[in-house]
Amino acid sequence: MKTYEKLLHNNKEWAKAVNEEDPEFFDRLAHIQTPEFLWIGCSDSRVPADRITGTQPGEIFVHRNIANMVVHTDVNLLSVLDFAVSYLKVKHIIVCGHYGCGGVKEAMSNHDHRYVLNMWLRNIKDVYRWHRDELDAITDETARFDRLVELNVEEQVMHLAKTSVVQRAWKHEQQPDIHGWVYGLKDGLIKPVFEMKAGTRIDPLYEYDDL
Ligand code: CO
Repeated sequence: MKTYEKLLHNNKEWAKAVNEEDPEFFDRLAHIQTPEFLWIGCSDSRVPADRITGTQPGEIFVHRNIANMVVHTDVNLLSVLDFAVSYLKVKHIIVCGHYGCGGVKEAMSNHDHRYVLNMWLRNIKDVYRWHRDELDAITDETARFDRLVELNVEEQVMHLAKTSVVQRAWKHEQQPDIHGWVYGLKDGLIKPVFEMKAGTRIDPLYEYDDL
């Protein structure tokens, strides 16, 4: 059996097992999607949103990219955000980074990753620059790397708050709250590192007053 065929085989087994345990499972999900959470995580294969949070299909709306970035010109991210917030009315957005993130690590290097990846990693280099004093003061390289992972999550949470999508929902619906978490590959545990409750004031420069 080829490796990808194994996936299709597993899928059949899974569908059969679910059906046996809960015959209405698929019928229920086919008709309604009301997730309470939007997850913005890293594409890293070791950080599966549903597995590490013990959630089921239908519970989390997911967007993943390299290093869980919220880039304000990323049409993909913004479309997911708008749909999740404005239509699905999620109550919580979770930005979940992870220690040992390859994207963050590469952004700390001076290696040329060629055009497209350089462009993406540049966003993380900016996070480093905004927190350069704190980061440069950390002499242990792993500790500095871990801290940048945390600060990156914090900045992405704030980037979400700078969008009109989130500000409009905060004004009219007093939701969603935004959470910044970091997952540990070594112990499987999630550490909350930052939070912005709905309605939190942000730098007035980024506030829209005619929402
Ligand atoms: Co990663």
